[in-house]
Amino acid sequence: MPSWNTVRDDFPALHQQVNGHPLVYLDNGATTQRPQVVIDAVSRFYAHDNANVHRGLHALSMRATAAYEGARARVARFINAAAPEEIIFTRGTTESLNLVAASWGSRLQPGDVILLTEMEHHSNLVPWQLVAARTGAKLRYVPVTGDEGKLDLSVLDQLLTPEVKVFAFTHISNTLGTINPVAELCARARQVGAISVVDAAQSVGHMPVDVRAIGCDFLAFSGHKMAAGTGIGALYGRRELLDAMPPWQGGGGMIAHVGFFESRWKPSPERFEAGTPNFGDAVGLAAACDYLDALGRAQLRRHDGELARLAYQKLSALPNIRLLGPAEEERGGLVSFALSDVHAHDVVTFADEDGIALRGGHHCNQPLMHKLGLTGTVRASFYLYNTAEEIDVLIASIRRIQKFFG
Ligand code: ALA
Repeated sequence: MPSWNTVRDDFPALHQQVNGHPLVYLDNGATTQRPQVVIDAVSRFYAHDNANVHRGLHALSMRATAAYEGARARVARFINAAAPEEIIFTRGTTESLNLVAASWGSRLQPGDVILLTEMEHHSNLVPWQLVAARTGAKLRYVPVTGDEGKLDLSVLDQLLTPEVKVFAFTHISNTLGTINPVAELCARARQVGAISVVDAAQSVGHMPVDVRAIGCDFLAFSGHKMAAGTGIGALYGRRELLDAMPPWQGGGGMIAHVGFFESRWKPSPERFEAGTPNFGDAVGLAAACDYLDALGRAQLRRHDGELARLAYQKLSALPNIRLLGPAEEERGGLVSFALSDVHAHDVVTFADEDGIALRGGHHCNQPLMHKLGLTGTVRASFYLYNTAEEIDVLIASIRRIQKFFG
């Protein structure tokens, strides 16, 4: 078992005062901090191996290419993909989902249906709206039950009809903390011949994720939500699907041949990586995979889950608070709440005075907020370096805020 208190020493950004208080960083759903080993891996790469990948025959380019392709293989292993070629490096979850929607989605036709859920982040919603507008496909939504924030699977049979060609859903809701039964949803999609797309932004760095056990066709995630850099992430796709998909961006690196009037493409993953990729941060992402695996993702899941349960319990003892997301069941490492008569942005601003980093607002879930009759919530999201003591600091701060606002 890792000692979670000593793990904090690995993260230089945690050791600072904010507004005269030790930083309590509870905004990990937005982005996590980076351990020194990841910072060092990126800086070592730039100091020693930096050159463009796949293009040069000189020593540095060959080293950079080996590091970049090594990172792809490491990420494939991290999520148990069948081959490195099933990993496409992207800027992050948003770009990964846009890639699937734009490329795979180009085959959709009028009459086809794209099934989403009401708890999707805008990044798993707007790209599908764009492709629906282009192709004439229709959108349908699996409803969310209300404040307890579960998918209403009792209506899935009615929604998941043979017209559905793609079913896209989040693994862990960034707003509610709900953990969806992704393997079951993928199996249900398969039964009607639809492909499944999993938004794993909030799960891949927090728990064991095995794409073959889940049985998904595509899975998207970001490096910066799992202790790696910004501007790097990945799309996992089953190879036979990727090989049949058209490119979505054109440029260097993705072509087999270019003429003035026509071109031919390389196979996946190069087909989907036009231009110079973010190889420096890919190396950092591989270092983050090593770091998280050394700690153990099952333990990490337990740690995050226990903190979220504790926070939920302590927050629910406060007056005039509305908590969102499942109360009893396992939840992801976050809690989301609204205080009566205090705007979420005020809560975040006041908590910052106590050195606490929270997020307040609609969390890129505007339609869900609208459905729940909220303008936004306050979210505390945890990671491997957070402690039970920090939850006490949060509770004391919320009490102070409630007192101030009467
Ligand atoms: N998607 C990120 C969040 O939930 C930014 O905060």
